[in-house]
Amino acid sequence: MFEVRELTTEDAADAYRLGSVAFGYHDRPIPESFPDRPGRTTFGVFEGTRLVAKAVDLERGQWFGGRVVPTAAVAGVAVTPEVRAKGLARMVLTELLRRARERGAAISTLFPTTPFPYRALGWEEVGALTYLAIPTAALAANRDGGPLARLRPATEADLPAIERLYRDVARASTGMMERSGPDFAVADVLTGFDGVTVAEDQDQVIGYATWDRSSGYDTSSRVKAYDVIGERPEATRALMGMLAGWQSVAPTTVLRLTSPDPAFLGLASSSMSVDQRKPWMLRLVDAARAVEARGWPSVVEGEVDLDVADEVCPWHAGPQRLILSGGEGRLEPGGTGTVRITSRGLALWYAGAATPAVLRRAGHLEGADAKTGELLAVATAGPAPALHDYF
Ligand SMILES: CC(C)(COP(=O)(O)OP(=O)(O)OC[C@H]1O[C@@H](n2cnc3c(N)ncnc32)[C@H](O)[C@@H]1OP(=O)(O)O)[C@@H](O)C(=O)NCCC(=O)NCCS
Repeated sequence: MFEVRELTTEDAADAYRLGSVAFGYHDRPIPESFPDRPGRTTFGVFEGTRLVAKAVDLERGQWFGGRVVPTAAVAGVAVTPEVRAKGLARMVLTELLRRARERGAAISTLFPTTPFPYRALGWEEVGALTYLAIPTAALAANRDGGPLARLRPATEADLPAIERLYRDVARASTGMMERSGPDFAVADVLTGFDGVTVAEDQDQVIGYATWDRSSGYDTSSRVKAYDVIGERPEATRALMGMLAGWQSVAPTTVLRLTSPDPAFLGLASSSMSVDQRKPWMLRLVDAARAVEARGWPSVVEGEVDLDVADEVCPWHAGPQRLILSGGEGRLEPGGTGTVRITSRGLALWYAGAATPAVLRRAGHLEGADAKTGELLAVATAGPAPALHDYF
């Protein structure tokens, strides 16, 4: 009696209603453009003609090992209150994953309100988008001296440099979003924030910061910095110094940064606290594609005979041989299946978010001898997973 299908523009009002009631923005009118955005597909479960569950697949890309991996960013998952806990989230998300694979996605990412339904479907928490609060006076107390880059407000001519600076950081990260495609217009950077500051060295832009200033100038006032990217220390120092300059009117500075970051090396981290933390979850949509798409350390050579347990994405379940060589990875069906790994284990390993030792203790990996464990650990070792773009 429940049927799952892709939504059409005819379903827009029902989809908006379901999502807006679930997430509490039902007081706002439906936007005129809803939901017609390229790169966005909504799936729904119907009971007769009534929409009772939905989930959205956003076409994105995330950086892993220096390459962009095609991602299904999942958003707007909602089930009508009367029919929750009947398997409808499972139904719509299983279909979303099947279709995401068909359109070429290799992995899927989401920001959960609760991790449990997603764990039941093979996603696992691999990182968190974290906003850190620090007294602005503590920024001002920074004694990490040295030359400072020149600062000025960004103009349109700076957009290519801003794009380049972000992409260089994203390329060296684990999981940061590729900011291109329909949801990221670089020109919006200039209108999307109260301030965009660039740092220059002679004639070249070597850093930038995007920031918002809250209202008022009392003890609750704050400056929130979204990207603070310095290609060189003089840029980072100058940008952090600009934020420090707000201390008389914005006693708190909030930073969206993932450690390690050069900006932290000039701060007293003991003064920082977590202002907001949004965990994110990952799963592989097509393991062979995910292994092929990302970059691997060129010094790592070896093979592992995996046995993947994944009922939700059966196309990559069973024995699979992982082959790593010369910076490339392949996953081929077959092999002895000696090393058993769950879908959640695969997600944690792929993101370098847990070592084989932790996976083993958590029951997500079995059968890896010491050498295989080392190979798996080194293969995805890298910066802590980071995702700075909420969706
Ligand atoms: C979260 C929500 C989408 C789950 O939908 P649902 O249809 O009730 O979930 P399902 O019945 O399909 O459950 C799927 C799996 O998750 C598990 N699960 C669901 N909610 C759970 C919870 N709160 N705690 C633990 N497990 C949960 C189920 O046991 C099931 O696992 P199983 O199939 O292995 O038994 C629904 O409760 C909802 O719409 N909530 C409000 C909006 C929201 O929070 N959306 C999520 C945004 S990220």
